[in-house]
Amino acid sequence: MPPPPPFAVEQWMDKYETTAKYNIAETCCASVSVEELASLSESKASASSILDLSAVQSYGEIRGSTAIRANLSRLYSSKAGSPLSPDNVLITPGAIAANFMVFYALIKPGDHVVCHYPTYQQLYTVPASLGAEVDLWKSKAKNKWLPDFEDLKELVKHNTKLIVLNNPQNPTGQVLPKSLLLKIVEFAESKNITVLSDEVYRPLFHGTSPMDPEFPPSILSLGYKNTIATGSMSKAYSLAGIRVGWIASRSSDIIEQCAVARDYTIISVSQLDQQVAAFALSPDVIHSLLGRNIQLAKANLELLQRFIIKHDEYCSWTKPVAGTTAFVKFERDGKAIDAEAFCKALQEKSGVMFLPGDYGFGMEFKGYVRIGYVNRTDILKDGLEELRKFMRKEYDELPLSE
Ligand SMILES: Cc1ncc(COP(=O)(O)O)c(C=O)c1O
Repeated sequence: MPPPPPFAVEQWMDKYETTAKYNIAETCCASVSVEELASLSESKASASSILDLSAVQSYGEIRGSTAIRANLSRLYSSKAGSPLSPDNVLITPGAIAANFMVFYALIKPGDHVVCHYPTYQQLYTVPASLGAEVDLWKSKAKNKWLPDFEDLKELVKHNTKLIVLNNPQNPTGQVLPKSLLLKIVEFAESKNITVLSDEVYRPLFHGTSPMDPEFPPSILSLGYKNTIATGSMSKAYSLAGIRVGWIASRSSDIIEQCAVARDYTIISVSQLDQQVAAFALSPDVIHSLLGRNIQLAKANLELLQRFIIKHDEYCSWTKPVAGTTAFVKFERDGKAIDAEAFCKALQEKSGVMFLPGDYGFGMEFKGYVRIGYVNRTDILKDGLEELRKFMRKEYDELPLSE
C-alpha cells in the first residue's frame, strides 16, 4: 500500500512553531514541567519521587505499566455502568500511534470506513492508505458542526467496518452529544460495525457540564462492546512531551488484535514516561491538573470571545464547548480571506501563529483558521493584541480566496 499523503497539520506545525513568538495554534493545554506536575499534587510530592531511578531500564511491562493501566481502568469505569479491566487497555506512544495501531489492526483492502469530519487528517487518510474506501460524515458550520444522524445512515454500506468519531472535535471544539452517541452505537451494533472514538481532548469540557443530560460520555460507557476509545496525556493533561497514549476497548478481541499490530511496531513504551503519566492520572494529581486546565480554557476562551465580538464584521464562529481549539472564519466584504496568506503574513509581521483551515482540514474550509487558545494566558493575550494591530493595519491588504 502507498503511504498516506503528507500530514498537512503536522507539517505546518513543524514548519512554523519553532519561530512563532505567540503560538496560538498549539492544541495542548499549556504544557507543564515534571516539577510543576509535582507541585499540583495534593500530597505535595517532590519531583524526584515521581521516577523510580533504581528500576532497571528494560522494556518493562510490554502492554503498559500496571500503574497507568489501573489508573485508566478507574477513569473509564467511573459512571460507566460496568468496570473496564486494566487488561482492556494498551499503552502507546501518544494517541497518534494508538489511532494508527487500531487502523493497522482492523482495516484491510475492500473495507469501508466512515469518518466524522472535519477532523485530524490521520483519521481518514490512514484507513484509505490501508486500502479502505473512506466516506466523510460531514458536520457543517451552519448546523453548529453537529453532524446529521440520517446522513450517517445513508453513508453506511454492507462492508462498513469502522465508524470513526472525534469527540470532542478538533478543530471546531464541539461535541457529539449523548443522545446522538446513543443512536450511533445502537445503529452500529445493529450492523455489527466497530466504533472508534478519538477522545484525545477528553475530559476537557469547559462549556458543558456533567449535569447536562446531553453531556457526552466516553464511547466505552454506552453499553456496546465493539467500541474503542483512544486518548493521551498530550492535550487535557498538558504532557505531550512524554508521548504516552492509549487504546481502550470493551472488546478483548479488539485489544488482542491491536496488541499483535503493536508488537510489530512499538514493542513497549518508555518506562520513565509511563511513571510520569501514572503520577499525573493518580487521584492525588488528576483533579488539580484538570482543574487548572479547565480554568485556563475558560479564562482564555473569554479573551478570544471578546476579540471575536469586537471584530464581528470580519470573524464568525461557533463558540467551542470542549477541547483546546476554535475554528474561526475570517471574511472581508462577505468573502472568505485567503487563510494561508493570512497565517503567513500574520506570523511574519506579528509573530502570531495560527493554522489555516483549508490547508489543514480540507479545501472547503476557505477563510477558516484554527486557533489553539489553551496556551498560557499571557501568550494568548499578547498574541491577540498583536492580531488586533494586524487587523487594523494589514487585514485590508490580504488576498481573498474567491
Ligand atoms: C484528534 C487528535 N488525535 C490525535 C492527536 C495526536 O496526539 P498525541 O499523539 O500527542 O497524543 C491529535 C494531535 O493534535 C489530535 O488532534
